[in-house]
Amino acid sequence: MTSLWRHPRCLRNEYLWARSWLRRLRNRPGAALLDIADRLRAGDPPGSLVLAMAESLASFSDDPSALTCSYLTAAHRATADRIRNWMLAAGFQSHIDAVGNVIGLLEGTGAVHGCLLSGSHYDTVVNAGKFDGRLGIIVPIVAATRLRRAGVRLPVGLQVIAFAEEEGVRFESTFLGSRALTGQFDPKVLDRTDGAGVSMRAAMAAAGLDWTAIASTAVNPDSVLGFVEVHIEQGPVLLDENLPVGVVTSIAGSIRNTVTVTGMAGHSGTVPMGKRRDAAAASAEIILAVEQRCSRYPGLVGTVGQLVVPGGAMNVIPGSCHFSVDVRAPTDEVRDAAMEDILAVSREVAARRKVEIDWKEVLRVSSVECAPQIRTQLADSVCRVLDAPAARLLPSGAGHDAMVMADITPMGMLFVRCGNGGVSHHPSETLSEEDADTAVRVFEDFLLHFGEAHVAGK
Ligand code: HGY
Ligand code: MN
Ligand code: MN
Repeated sequence: MTSLWRHPRCLRNEYLWARSWLRRLRNRPGAALLDIADRLRAGDPPGSLVLAMAESLASFSDDPSALTCSYLTAAHRATADRIRNWMLAAGFQSHIDAVGNVIGLLEGTGAVHGCLLSGSHYDTVVNAGKFDGRLGIIVPIVAATRLRRAGVRLPVGLQVIAFAEEEGVRFESTFLGSRALTGQFDPKVLDRTDGAGVSMRAAMAAAGLDWTAIASTAVNPDSVLGFVEVHIEQGPVLLDENLPVGVVTSIAGSIRNTVTVTGMAGHSGTVPMGKRRDAAAASAEIILAVEQRCSRYPGLVGTVGQLVVPGGAMNVIPGSCHFSVDVRAPTDEVRDAAMEDILAVSREVAARRKVEIDWKEVLRVSSVECAPQIRTQLADSVCRVLDAPAARLLPSGAGHDAMVMADITPMGMLFVRCGNGGVSHHPSETLSEEDADTAVRVFEDFLLHFGEAHVAGK
């Protein structure tokens, strides 16, 4: 009979063997799914679970060296599948609609007709952080799962929506997912092509999406009780004031343009300066005008994020130059006045430098106020969970799907503190486990009280 007592070396070897097996088990392709689905069902501490889920989604990228998840790429589709699997594991019914939104539905008791909608986007900018968008998908899933584990059934239905495309990176088509859901999808964008000349229509077909069914993705506003988006602040306010969360008052409106300047190419060594029609120099004047004009008013911002001299060479005068202009402000009046002044400068530069300057507006979205009732309900939840006398109210300079959802239903947003100076749209975007935990608890409290308020007919 083998001795029950084993030499310590044997025990250590067995421990190492078991540990390596467990690691291999955890690292097998579906492990992240099972692991997280198990952790969801097991009611793991919410903060660490949220971070693990964000990490898991960040493993899908168009670029092996950075997180980039553009609309309908293989990484984007894998992300959608993983989100849908988590929704199913959490007890939601879940489907992917005609534009790629991943929609999870948790039926309520039926005491109140209609659903609360919550969610955010799962596409990213290039070289993105892990939490922009994704946090607003993960938090409602984790919060709803915790309530179910506690045996709570909400009187209202809950729909969690992972919007397929908000950033507009691949096809310059922002808010695609939320616009489809609100019946505002513009079929003209189907013909837009990406950098490789692939049309959105072809990309949808390749992803198995039925673009002819997009109109049917729109929700019936009568069945929607409200929309709440949880999102990282993407700025330093909460961090500077040492606050984990804040409630959004309004979302800045923006206008985005792509600009093409056409001058005359020429030999950099032979054309006298006074005879040039230099497209890049003309662009530079306009870019500086954007910066100067948008520095004049608090909350007004102007950004040139893209600037290209196509086929440029060191010894050729740029005959053409492309750049983007993104102008935002707390009110449309301030934004539009700035745009007018920038366009006036553009006209003057074009005339003086004898170049053509074509502005193509690719986005115009109005600033929007958050619904007072939802704002108050979110603030009350923050106060209860933090045991605080008041919640920090703050505006959002960033755009969000919530501003589109506001077209069909009362909308609110909960901001969560970002670390690293509040940086976002960058790989050093960060969120602490404690703040993720707080966000889940505030959202849970909001769900409970939102349902009760509707039962009470408030
Ligand atoms: O640009 C924005 O404000 C958002 O990140 N799409
Ligand atoms: Mn973003
Ligand atoms: Mn976002």
